[in-house]
Amino acid sequence: MSAQKVLTLSELTQDQAVRVEVNGVPMAVVLDAQGEVHAIGDTCTHGDISLADGFVEGESLECWAHGSAFSLRTGRPLNLPAYEPVPVYEVTIEGDDVLIDPAVTKAVN
Ligand code: FES
Repeated sequence: MSAQKVLTLSELTQDQAVRVEVNGVPMAVVLDAQGEVHAIGDTCTHGDISLADGFVEGESLECWAHGSAFSLRTGRPLNLPAYEPVPVYEVTIEGDDVLIDPAVTKAVN
């Protein structure tokens, strides 16, 4: 599988997550304050909640339901109640296009 165009940069608002599906894989896409685009799994590992409905805080995305914040870089929850990470997807920017490969996840370390 290869990276697919999912959005354009102009469709993203800084610090507001957008939910997308790439080949049926739900993701939350975030343009952070440094201008970097991140894509992580959209489903909170504590419950069936869309993380894109949550809040961007620096380099994390906080689930609105019970407050676990997930690192946009590693996918790891930074606080309870969630304790399992979400996947992190490789993002490529080509001009104004945001490409994501749903088959590729960055290593969580
Ligand atoms: S459902 Fe996300 S922290 Fe509980």
